[in-house]
Amino acid sequence: MQNEELRIGRSQLEHSRAKYADLFDFAPVGYFTLDQHGRVLQVNVRGARLLGVARAKLLHQRFMSFLASASVPVFLRHLREVFQGRARRFCELSMQNVDGRPFSVQLESVLAEEDPDEDRCCRTTVIDLTLRKKAEDALRKGQETLATMVEERTRELSESNRALQAQILQRERAERELQRAHTELERRVQERTAELLQTKQVLEAEIVQRKRAEAAHLLVLQRLVEAQEAESCRVARELHDQFGQEVAALSLGLNGIGEQLPLNSPLRPRVAQMLDIVGSVLRDVHSLVWKLRPPALDDLGLATALERYTAEWAKLSGIPVHFHNCGLDHRRMSSQIETTLYRIAQEALTNVFKHAQARNVSVLLEGQRNQIGLIIEDDGRGFAVESMLNRSPDAQGHVGLLGMRERATLAGGTVNIESSRGSGTTVFVRIPVATEPVRDLEIYEKNSRSIGRRSQHHA
Ligand SMILES: Nc1ncnc2c1ncn2[C@@H]1O[C@H](COP(=O)(O)OP(=O)(O)OP(=O)(O)O)[C@@H](O)[C@H]1O
Ligand SMILES: [Mg+2]
Repeated sequence: MQNEELRIGRSQLEHSRAKYADLFDFAPVGYFTLDQHGRVLQVNVRGARLLGVARAKLLHQRFMSFLASASVPVFLRHLREVFQGRARRFCELSMQNVDGRPFSVQLESVLAEEDPDEDRCCRTTVIDLTLRKKAEDALRKGQETLATMVEERTRELSESNRALQAQILQRERAERELQRAHTELERRVQERTAELLQTKQVLEAEIVQRKRAEAAHLLVLQRLVEAQEAESCRVARELHDQFGQEVAALSLGLNGIGEQLPLNSPLRPRVAQMLDIVGSVLRDVHSLVWKLRPPALDDLGLATALERYTAEWAKLSGIPVHFHNCGLDHRRMSSQIETTLYRIAQEALTNVFKHAQARNVSVLLEGQRNQIGLIIEDDGRGFAVESMLNRSPDAQGHVGLLGMRERATLAGGTVNIESSRGSGTTVFVRIPVATEPVRDLEIYEKNSRSIGRRSQHHA
């Protein structure tokens, strides 16, 4: 029974030994047992394969013989340190196998448990670092490449950063320039605006002054025309009421004397001659009075007065006049407007008589709701209007056209003249009138005043 148990125990032991022998032989690292001189006492399959030598041949060989010469002192120190103490020791060595292939290994050694039957030895693990070295090399190269790339990229970045910085600086400079130019422009605009404002104010003041002067001038002119008209009226009245009456009385007296003379008196023809002269003076007085202040203008209004005037003018000048009155029949305007239109017609017709050599004249009086138009047209020789109006008044006068304009302006109206040499002349007058016609009562009052004045002077 005891033998049986022994046998079983041995068999189990064998089995376990075989199992560990397998594990030992086919481990992924090399296992060496070395003595104090570095001779191989034991080695597993992997260890023999690393050195490229059959396991049997490797036994009792010096591990050192597979080392690169530079690694020999490292190994010897490693071995010495292991056998001096119990601690684990590590080192890296360069080796070469029997074919001369170099490779790197890491050694990890520990002193083996002392066995009184055996010499002292150590267990050494040899790990092939070739793959690790390769990986490390690849890693280093990768790191170097990466570092180069990073360096390059950094250089590129710093270059582009510098360029960008320069651009920013340039842009900032340009912006500052722009800002300066803008400020300068703004300053100039403000200066110019202030100047313009000042000029504007000066101009406005001048305009106001000029308007005032024009208004004053107009007022003076108006007064002048009014005074002229009043003076004409006064002279006309004097002539008619005083001088005319006296000449009429002279005529009557002469007539009486003539009648009392005997029929064969030699003085009779003298008296008759004198009566003729007095009659001619009377007619001249009447004509003068009529020109100075046509009584019809006050009493009968513009249309009738103008019609009579044109008829008389035609007789005197021998030039036929066609007078047309459109829409003005018995309508009355203010005395200023009526006188203005009448005087302009007079001057225009006088000009026709003096300068035009016309064969026909037409006068058109046109009454519209808010303006009165007067058109005097002749078929005479015409003249250059602009140059005539623009010339400065000379010693000979020639103020008729300007006078027409001034009169119309004073009444708020206009005079336009169309003429060219050889094609006659047309004078257009427009005077605005109040839309309300002058009330009958005002006309009545005005007429009765002027009639009253005249009858007073008669008396
Ligand atoms: N209807 C017309 N036909 C031809 N020429 C004309 C006519 N009206 C005016 N003129 C020309 O225009 C000029 C200016 O006329 P304006 O009435 O201003 O002066 P005037 O008749 O010469 O002198 P006055 O001061 O006595 O009127 C005239 O000298 C004449 O040459
Ligand atoms: Mg004239």
